[in-house]
Amino acid sequence: MQLVSDKILEVQKGASWIRRMFEAGIELKKQYGPENVYDFSLGSPDLKPPATVIETLLHLADEVNVPAGLGYMPNAGYFAAREALATWASQEQGVQIPANNILVTVGAAGGLNCLCKTTLLPGDEVICPAPYFVEYAGYAGTYGGVLKPVPSAPGTFKLNIEGIAAAITDRTRMLLINSPNNPAGVIYTEEEIKALAQILRDARKGSDRPIILVADEPYRFLAFDGKTVPSVLPHYEYSVVCSSFSKNLGLAGERVGYIVVNPAMDKDVAAQFLGGLILSNRVLGYVNAPCIGQKLIIGAVANLEKTLAAQSAQTDIYAERRNVMASILDEAGIEYQMPAGTFYFFPKAPNGMDDVEFVKKLAEQRILAVPGSGFGCKGYFRLALCVDKAVIERSRQGFVNAMK
Ligand SMILES: Cc1ncc(COP(=O)(O)O)c(C=O)c1O
Repeated sequence: MQLVSDKILEVQKGASWIRRMFEAGIELKKQYGPENVYDFSLGSPDLKPPATVIETLLHLADEVNVPAGLGYMPNAGYFAAREALATWASQEQGVQIPANNILVTVGAAGGLNCLCKTTLLPGDEVICPAPYFVEYAGYAGTYGGVLKPVPSAPGTFKLNIEGIAAAITDRTRMLLINSPNNPAGVIYTEEEIKALAQILRDARKGSDRPIILVADEPYRFLAFDGKTVPSVLPHYEYSVVCSSFSKNLGLAGERVGYIVVNPAMDKDVAAQFLGGLILSNRVLGYVNAPCIGQKLIIGAVANLEKTLAAQSAQTDIYAERRNVMASILDEAGIEYQMPAGTFYFFPKAPNGMDDVEFVKKLAEQRILAVPGSGFGCKGYFRLALCVDKAVIERSRQGFVNAMK
């Protein structure tokens, strides 16, 4: 007997490497004790939410203790939340964004699903640079879309602009980029963004079906060494930003994110697009983003200076962890490019070794990593620094041993 569709069984068989390693970690922790396992498998932030979020939460019980205080709301989100997000996104993007151009979503993942649902017809293609966030294929596939990854330059992971141009067909609907990039840690430059915008324009000259440029940016706050993440909005009219508060404010479980529709877009086209996104939010069953999460963001943005300071304090913690991991990889003799952003490292498996094999070797040292194959990039592996600096330091000998 089988209650599950063949399609889901197929997806389950290829179950994400991240989850597999996470589950292997649970077993290892049972066997050796949690303090003796160095779990770099999941990109699940371990830091506390900022005080501005907690203060808002403490006052919420009274605020919602009214009829329908936790009830349904407009599918696009509370207007106050959209206004708060407009303030937030405007300061991040350096572009004035009106509240009407914002949709509050169920995390960045919910936003990407709304985008795919709203724009894709079966057989439509979504191009993305590889390596890429492992869930993208599933998001596009749910709506009949096909993910077309284009390998970036090995080692530096700079965008392969010619490769992306060559991958465009009549069925291309979306170019999906993620900067700073999970897992490669690269930040795409303004020149790269401009070059992408140009090829998208050239590919659809005279057509009324532009390719949508989607910038998935949950790691925007995590840029190191004074670097900044260029916005796509000033460079390409048919662009959207999709982001969330999962990584920067420790709200991953609260599921609150947003989509910004470029205010430079023709007003009628943008209004139709937003209408489609709002409908998708509803019919996908999300209905609206969780109301507590939205209220937390309203509070966090009302105290913008304090929240931004807390966010940059988190960036500093990840920067310190990055330095410790870099020194460990140096000592072990493992090749890597220093991540410009994110809390990931994406080093090379040594001596041309298969990435899955090397990840197994690391697991023998109770170090949990994820093979690059899981991100469409064989020969590399991902380390997520969502554990305390002391844990990273204790993994040093394990990396050295794995290289012997
Ligand atoms: C690149 C990227 N996009 C989207 C998401 C989904 O984030 P959220 O928790 O906001 O749905 C993640 C989560 O790890 C991610 O790494």
